[in-house]
Amino acid sequence: MEISGKKALVFGGTSGIGLATVQQLSDLGAEVIAIGRNPEKMTDVPANTTVKKCDVLDREAIQALYAECGPFDILVSAATGGGRAVGPFAEMDMDGYQASFAKLWGYTNVVRFGLEHMPDTGAIVLVSGSPARNCNPGQIAISSVGGAVEAMVRGVAKEIKPKRINAMSPGLVDTPMWSAFQGEALEAHYKKLTQNNLIPRVGTPEEQAQGIIFLIQNDFVTGTVLDVDGGILLS
Ligand SMILES: NC(=O)c1ccc[n+]([C@@H]2O[C@H](COP(=O)([O-])OP(=O)(O)OC[C@H]3O[C@@H](n4cnc5c(N)ncnc54)[C@H](OP(=O)(O)O)[C@@H]3O)[C@@H](O)[C@H]2O)c1
Repeated sequence: MEISGKKALVFGGTSGIGLATVQQLSDLGAEVIAIGRNPEKMTDVPANTTVKKCDVLDREAIQALYAECGPFDILVSAATGGGRAVGPFAEMDMDGYQASFAKLWGYTNVVRFGLEHMPDTGAIVLVSGSPARNCNPGQIAISSVGGAVEAMVRGVAKEIKPKRINAMSPGLVDTPMWSAFQGEALEAHYKKLTQNNLIPRVGTPEEQAQGIIFLIQNDFVTGTVLDVDGGILLS
């Protein structure tokens, strides 16, 4: 797909990986709509970009947004959806585990209701995560959510052809998702989780966005997962 002149919606586009994707889509000449629950957090808005408020868990709000903004060619969701449960399975808070699936429900909502607003040439990209296929101890919740996202992408791709849908899978990435850590604690966290990777450092949102842009541009790719993870799956 030639991105210039196309219309793109990016859920979770106000922060981190989604924000970097909004910037790169804008640089490539797309008309972009960046979406999150708190649009005011996006203080530096790229060219040809508008910011909208919508919760990916609110189906009525999503449909109203689509009625207002459709049709569109590109649909990206990097919205985390809500909280994430971490810790050993045997000690798992089961409400927290269930709540982690807000990410999956947010993705299913935006794809389910977005399809009818996209042409056959349209492209969808979701964001999973390396624990989907390499679950370290303590990551069972995000692993099972990520696995479900990737299974959904493979299944939906067969039904929506010739529209395309893919997932980009990050490793550890320096974004506000890790804002519970600050300063030296954040550096130590990143080092601990990346020092044994083939590329032993934390990733940047821009590197992740490059993967998403590839999945939008390459019309021969659908139903798959692109790993942009510093080799974490082999670590
Ligand atoms: N960073 C990493 O190391 C890493 C690793 C693996 C996978 N991932 C995945 O990558 C994706 C992007 O993460 P990130 O690191 O870029 O996180 P981030 O910086 O925290 O950004 C998350 C974005 O999602 C939006 N969002 C969250 N819940 C939402 C909801 N219910 N409705 C609408 N928007 C919502 C946030 O805005 P509001 O809160 O204002 O709504 C924000 O724009 C996520 O799916 C995450 O699981 C990240």
